[in-house]
Amino acid sequence: MASTYDQYREEMIGRANVADTPELVAYYQRLQSLGTGALWTVANKIEPWEPASTSVPYLWRYRDLREDVLRSLELVTPEQAGRRVVYLENPGRADVVAAVGWLYSGLQVMGPGECASSHRHSASALRFIMEGSGAFTNVDGHKMTLGANDFVLTPNGTWHEHGVSEDGTVCIWQDGLDIPLMNALDANFYEVHPELQQAISFPVNDSLGMWAGSALRPAGVTWTKPYSPLLKYEWGPTYEALLRYASVSEGSPYDGLLMEYVNPHTGGPVMPTIGASMQMLRAGQHTKAHRHTGSFVYQCAKGRGYSIINGQRFDWQERDIFVVPSWCWHEHVNLSEGEDACLFTFNDLPVMRSLGIYREEAFGENGGHQPILA
Ligand SMILES: [Fe+2]
Ligand SMILES: [Fe+2]
Repeated sequence: MASTYDQYREEMIGRANVADTPELVAYYQRLQSLGTGALWTVANKIEPWEPASTSVPYLWRYRDLREDVLRSLELVTPEQAGRRVVYLENPGRADVVAAVGWLYSGLQVMGPGECASSHRHSASALRFIMEGSGAFTNVDGHKMTLGANDFVLTPNGTWHEHGVSEDGTVCIWQDGLDIPLMNALDANFYEVHPELQQAISFPVNDSLGMWAGSALRPAGVTWTKPYSPLLKYEWGPTYEALLRYASVSEGSPYDGLLMEYVNPHTGGPVMPTIGASMQMLRAGQHTKAHRHTGSFVYQCAKGRGYSIINGQRFDWQERDIFVVPSWCWHEHVNLSEGEDACLFTFNDLPVMRSLGIYREEAFGENGGHQPILA
């Protein structure tokens, strides 16, 4: 039986419901000529009952993209392109070049011996290494060597450049940034380093030596910046942590075994505007559906399976990328035979949480599983 509240919503009580009359239309035109408008003509659109994302659930299959990403190696140099990247465009967010919500993502490719110019920007950035060996990133003089499934930060305002060593192979990684958010806030700056390349000022991988000791912190070292002092999170220890977690916990019925990458200094998110996590789905696991505020970009780091997003099934395998827009129902299924599957995500949860607008809800019907729509 419908509740009073459902009935209230149904009948649009308290919502704008004004029919056009010649007199009103003339009035609206008059208001428009004054740089104004009547709120009741837009109220239902700008204040929906619940989030109504223009982003659509979407999946990019790596096997469809890889050859075209590699082709850009022959077409442009990093100097010409600035950054040689094929970006992922959500059909509902082409106007702001977002993969989902206010998050941008792209696939960057570099060959052995190549290095892009050092630069910095207001957008916070991360990369997740997909294939190849010899990739490196230098962040404010901290050089890091990178391997597959490593996750590295280039926080907002830090000078950074990426490259591949002479003895490396062609490397492809996923970039994740909050460029659309910075543009929405009219706060985006971009600068190229005056010397094009910055010096390496610290021992290679020093941020790991200092801050990757899980429950241990270097004594007497202070850190005052708003992002994590640990700039690289390697795949090996991440996967081990998930296995240890799996040995003592069932995890969440909605997320399986999900662990957030954190700033070891604060326990908070890695950057003020972008969070990231790695989740493990056990062999055969089918999570229950839930939805929450926040936009999510997933990459399958291990295994294969599918996710149901707002009733639509998206099959994924290693390196495929898919997005879950804010407030969309989602559940995940691991189809890897006898093996766990791992999903990397980056998201805008730190924004949702710091602004107090995070909200979550379980799918209450059908044993917690969405019907798949035709
Ligand atoms: Fe950058
Ligand atoms: Fe979720």
